[in-house]
Amino acid sequence: MKTLTRGELMVVEDKDAFAEAGARLFAEAADMAGGRFVAGLAGGSTPKALYERLAYEPWRSAIRWGKADLVLGDERFVAPDDAKSNARMIREALVDHLVTKPRLHAVPFDKLTVSEAATEYEAELKALYGAAKLDPARPFFDLCLLGMGEDGHTASLLPGQPELLDERERWVLPVTKGRPEARVTLTFPVLESAGLVVFLVSGAGKRDMLDRVLSGADRDVPAARFAPNGRLVWLADKDAAGRWAG
Ligand code: 6PG
Repeated sequence: MKTLTRGELMVVEDKDAFAEAGARLFAEAADMAGGRFVAGLAGGSTPKALYERLAYEPWRSAIRWGKADLVLGDERFVAPDDAKSNARMIREALVDHLVTKPRLHAVPFDKLTVSEAATEYEAELKALYGAAKLDPARPFFDLCLLGMGEDGHTASLLPGQPELLDERERWVLPVTKGRPEARVTLTFPVLESAGLVVFLVSGAGKRDMLDRVLSGADRDVPAARFAPNGRLVWLADKDAAGRWAG
């Protein structure tokens, strides 16, 4: 594992090793949490194989799923059974295969506007946390998994939208431009309130952006602005790591 000025870089050989390393980090964080375990889950395609890995041995029985609360870092504002739904992807890859079920906190959708859904989800997260204000000494997440887009976005915190990126009070915001469908996203304050943040970056398409973020050449894209309270790990396969793999 390489140590950078911003976090730690873990480079693995390929997609199989990537899923295994991600599952191991997840299980270690769950074990460290002891009792209740609150994990933020990334959407998109990268984490799917990691979630599938957690659904089978040895990881399935290594984690006390009945003590786990799974929270979405962001969600496409679509019906729960829509193929674009991150909650559906997580159910199909992980939760449906578990005997003891974790609590999956899906973003509400039915009969709501995207703004109402964001407000309701924020209330649910505050109830889960047990307070309306984040305490730096008590992270919201034990573990927060995040993806990164080729443009440097993370969750649905998109470049060029300061109303999302500069928000320091709200925990959850609606996103109504920049994507084909509306989104609901957690904001920096709550995503950074984590004992461990793991960015999951896989594939050659992410190589340039990851290089710009790790080298400090680009400090403005959302993923580069990330300053978590706790430990930060960049998990990358060799295709994404490029020159950083050496
Ligand atoms: C989403 C994700 C998003 C994702 C990145 C990377 O809902 O799409 O939360 O932030 O993590 O876009 O997506 P891929 O993993 O598909 O490359």
